[in-house]
Amino acid sequence: MASCGSNGVESPNTLQSICYNRGSLQLLDQRKLPLETIFLDIKDSTDGWNAIRDMVVRGAPAIAIAAALSLAVEVSNLGSFNGSPGDAASLLQSKLEYLVSSRPTAVNLSDAATKLKEVISKAAATSSEARSVFQAYIEAAEIMLEDDVASNKAIGSYGAKFMQQQMEKQKLSVLTHCNTGSESRLERMRNYREKGVTLKGLDHVSFNLATAGYGTALGVIRALHSGGVLERAYCTETRPFNQGARLTAYELVHDKIPATLIADSAAAALMRDGRVDAVVVGADRVASNGDTANKIGTYSVALCAKFHNVPFYVAAPLTSIDLSLSSGEEIVIEERSPKELLNTRGGLGEQVAASGISVWNPAFDVTPAGLIHGIITEKGVITKMSSADAFDIKAFIQKTG
Ligand code: MRU
Repeated sequence: MASCGSNGVESPNTLQSICYNRGSLQLLDQRKLPLETIFLDIKDSTDGWNAIRDMVVRGAPAIAIAAALSLAVEVSNLGSFNGSPGDAASLLQSKLEYLVSSRPTAVNLSDAATKLKEVISKAAATSSEARSVFQAYIEAAEIMLEDDVASNKAIGSYGAKFMQQQMEKQKLSVLTHCNTGSESRLERMRNYREKGVTLKGLDHVSFNLATAGYGTALGVIRALHSGGVLERAYCTETRPFNQGARLTAYELVHDKIPATLIADSAAAALMRDGRVDAVVVGADRVASNGDTANKIGTYSVALCAKFHNVPFYVAAPLTSIDLSLSSGEEIVIEERSPKELLNTRGGLGEQVAASGISVWNPAFDVTPAGLIHGIITEKGVITKMSSADAFDIKAFIQKTG
């Protein structure tokens, strides 16, 4: 166990999920939330890989940043390195590939690796020593951690405005699934790179899951609440790992948002009772037609919403969109350990299921674009004709620049 800077362990309300100083990284062990606030020391990419795989850190944007920083810490603390700039680049590139293999579904991790590899190749081509390549990598990884709640806020405000316009009611009740507490800094990094700006030596930068990070789907809920138009937020437990019960519920309580926790299987009944005006969820990867991979159970919620005429929205930064995929059929879905179902607490507690039963445990599912009313991004809401089965995301991106 490690402490996080000056206030990580002592102050459970801050819920900093990533604590970083150059050369040191601690990750909040999200498996222990909300009952314990424990940080784990991450010394290298192997620790990073294990922390991502074992769900110490989770959520599409957070795993990308944690992966990048784990390797930054490793190379910061590398003693001597006798190779050429090209050798340094190969080392970094192979470690990034290794990190990407930790969890396959969220595009943010592979997108971050691709962008970091570009930085590495450029540095290797222009540097005379390996150290400069490592330095360029560390700085690029640190920029990913740069606090940028601006795009979260834009998602929140576009989403809240759009939902209000679509509804005839004064106050809305919204259901969400899983946990979407904070958002990516990748956009910021790209902006810096395009302008040729290099940031040096960030000191004790931290990433707040609950407070500074506004969130994507949760950002929309926060914006509705702060605009006085949220009647109530409903969050699902999100079996088997309980991200909703443990993390989203924690954030909603923390922010004093009127909120109710439901079992995943209660969503249809809640909608039938007319208690849900809209559903908003996050995304791990959105294909170019709008098919969206998100936490397992999202598809069932979307089907229930369709049946009950409840609009269903996806809130995601443009960095979660994978234009290389024409549809959700191409998205690789991670399958996780049977233990998550066999035992309580997402596999961390005691056995609950019958010994010998076989288990299918996909961590994500794909909601077809036809069930999605709008994709809320930091550049606006992507819509389609209500009868259409697909979004034209490419056209939206071209139009919004
Ligand atoms: O398995 P997890 O907890 O990493 O899954 C997280 C989700 O599915 C989130 O909804 C998604 O990553 C969006 S986070 C802004």
